[in-house]
Amino acid sequence: MAAITIDGIVMKFGAHTVLQGLSLQVPDGAFYTLLGPSGCGKTTLLRCIAGFNQPAAGRILFDDDDVTRVSAHHRDIGMVFQDYALFPDKSAFDNIAYGLRARKVSRVETASRVNEALEKVGLLSLAARYPAQMSGGQRQRVALARALVIRPRLLLMDEPLSNLDAKMRLQMRDVILDLVRDSHITTVFVTHDQEEALAMSDRIAIMDRGDIAQLGTPEELYATPVNAYVADFIGSANVIRVPVQPAADATAAGAAPCVRYTLCGQSFDGVAAGARPVGEGLLVARPEDLSLVPSATAASDAIDGVVVRRQYLGFKTAYRIRLRDASEIRVDQHAGGAAHEFRAGETVQVRIPAGSRVVAA
Ligand SMILES: Nc1ncnc2c1ncn2[C@@H]1O[C@H](COP(=O)(O)OP(=O)(O)O)[C@@H](O)[C@H]1O
Ligand SMILES: [Mg+2]
Repeated sequence: MAAITIDGIVMKFGAHTVLQGLSLQVPDGAFYTLLGPSGCGKTTLLRCIAGFNQPAAGRILFDDDDVTRVSAHHRDIGMVFQDYALFPDKSAFDNIAYGLRARKVSRVETASRVNEALEKVGLLSLAARYPAQMSGGQRQRVALARALVIRPRLLLMDEPLSNLDAKMRLQMRDVILDLVRDSHITTVFVTHDQEEALAMSDRIAIMDRGDIAQLGTPEELYATPVNAYVADFIGSANVIRVPVQPAADATAAGAAPCVRYTLCGQSFDGVAAGARPVGEGLLVARPEDLSLVPSATAASDAIDGVVVRRQYLGFKTAYRIRLRDASEIRVDQHAGGAAHEFRAGETVQVRIPAGSRVVAA
């Protein structure tokens, strides 16, 4: 078990700089996720931690050990890949035993540790099977057991669930979480699936073109995204360009600064997130934070619109509303409340909650 410190890592492939001075700290025993679209550098960063990529600058420490120049082989890491990477000519047992045999662990201890690992991933009865005789989920359990049986300092997982079908993906989330909680191992998990990241992580690092856009708990990222990129990547958000009035009132120290912005000719109070917007900002409003009221309502915190489309989705109804300036906004109304249902073509009012977030454009 170890804490990871990544300090100003620069990683280039030829003239192409993929990581530009990235820093991240993962505390001992924590489950951190790297989340971002394909090509943003998640695998590159994971391979730097593992020692398969040699960064051009920066340092990597496991606790106080500087491992930047230590070979992958000597970093004592368990790794799980999207494509399982099992030895096809070895049984489940021998795949898991491989790392122990390479470390000259005795026969008796190897057998007992492999059996214990097989039992933990629920595969004791399949010990003699070869990878080709197992399902994707079973193979990934073998890969997980193989990574953990050597009792590594860290566990690194690169999109381990991406090749599984939807149901198995959900099951494997629990298998992984049970195992890593059980062993208290520091884990860095890579995914491009935001729901997976939210469900599994202590903290998520949202990556954008080789850097970390925001690091936070799932709740922090969802409730307080620092920019439109993060807001749109975690959950979904309406991102609307709005004029912002100059800061009038200084806010109390520590409190988020207030921003006055204009939407469809009407003035609202929002909260500045991240860098303070000047002149113009982006209003970031989640569909579930907005609500619809009948157009006859005299609401001062609402703007006029027309229902373009209504989609009934069971647990919620998703509306697309055209505003007076011809832009569209999405509004979700959750089932269960006494919410009024609106028809396509109906004129409505969209309520914008006070304190909506406005980020720099
Ligand atoms: N071995 C390599 N040689 C050259 N370019 C690479 C190599 N590995 C990754 N890249 C480039 O680095 C960028 C980030 O890739 P990667 O880390 O695999 O992204 P992700 O895992 O987030 O999808 C991409 O532009 C990719 O083409
Ligand atoms: Mg990748």
